[in-house]
Amino acid sequence: MIIKSIYLENFRNYEKLEVEFNEKVNILIGNNAQGKTNLIEAIYLSSMSKSFRTNTSSDLVSFNKEFAKVKVKVKDDDIDRNVEIRIDNNSKKIIKKNGKIIRKTSELFNNIIIVVFSPDDLSIVKNDPIKRRTFIDRELCQLKPKYYLALTSYNKTLKQKNALLKERKFNDNLIEVLDSQLAKYGTIISKYRKVFCLELCNISNKLQKSITDDKEELVIKYINNFKNNEITEENLYNILKENRKKDMEKGYTTVGPHRDDISFYINGIDVKKYGSQGQQRTCALTLKLAEIEIIKNETEKYPILLLDDVLSELDSERQEKLISHLDMVQLFITTTDIPKQYKDNNEIKIIKIKKGTVYN
Ligand SMILES: Nc1ncnc2c1ncn2[C@@H]1O[C@H](COP(=O)(O)OP(=O)(O)O)[C@@H](O)[C@H]1O
Ligand SMILES: [Mg+2]
Repeated sequence: MIIKSIYLENFRNYEKLEVEFNEKVNILIGNNAQGKTNLIEAIYLSSMSKSFRTNTSSDLVSFNKEFAKVKVKVKDDDIDRNVEIRIDNNSKKIIKKNGKIIRKTSELFNNIIIVVFSPDDLSIVKNDPIKRRTFIDRELCQLKPKYYLALTSYNKTLKQKNALLKERKFNDNLIEVLDSQLAKYGTIISKYRKVFCLELCNISNKLQKSITDDKEELVIKYINNFKNNEITEENLYNILKENRKKDMEKGYTTVGPHRDDISFYINGIDVKKYGSQGQQRTCALTLKLAEIEIIKNETEKYPILLLDDVLSELDSERQEKLISHLDMVQLFITTTDIPKQYKDNNEIKIIKIKKGTVYN
């Protein structure tokens, strides 16, 4: 799958822009605050219908404009497709696929599959659990529409229950109903996560070995609240019920998939607690490469990879390892300097960006 071109109108600091892309490597180069990340944010939007850096869609509309528009042309198995997204400054969105309006966001997923790698991801191993859950959620939402639906319903129900707990408006019947809903959706979520983490563990371990010349064995474990790791609705319902009293005191739901996590072990040692910064970064790199492979296995296509300012954060050895694994994917790299691996290479496209314009 390849993104052929993009058209932007009133998107962030771009008034109007049309650019064609290279099938392999695109280097978006420019000083700080010129619009490099904005451009890849627009690409990401066309895949997920939201940004990877804000949850408020109206942030994407240029200041003082009424709407933003992003149109992306894609080539997939030699078939041309396009996606168009219009966002109003009240955050209302209209999404079109090949000119036809899409009613459900989930219909967009699986259409253009994207992986983003930014400096923030380098600390995924030691960051807060929410970052690791977001990592899993992003992947599964793109690949499994049922997961997306279960997650959306779970989060909605959880919000409702937490509001009741917070206001101390206990209504046993209602809490009972909400807990059964949470158990139902939560079990679906956890089943997908379990399978995903197993695959992630297998693929990551192979990659970690290849990156560290067989020195490091990586194990990834899915951490959840289910007793004996038995992922059943009944099990989750009972755990929610057991914790109800405590949750009422605390004012929020203390157990369930919204508290899940993953842990990483290199040669048996917990990387989060005891790993060196170097190991934590290699592990993050491995995870990203594994993500690409999982997508390839699931969809038989390589995703598009967006590297936002991440190369300069890696030492040259890790840069080499990363790039050597990326031959098959279409790459978008934002940077202030051309990475040395791509100097004197005529097969790449260099896109120079300044104040929301592309120049030669
Ligand atoms: N909604 C918006 N309307 C207009 N300009 C915006 C908007 N959001 C961000 N910007 C501008 O975009 C620029 C940052 O662009 P960004 O792509 O993050 O920079 P970089 O090139 O460093 O990646 C800043 O100058 C910021 O003021
Ligand atoms: Mg940037």
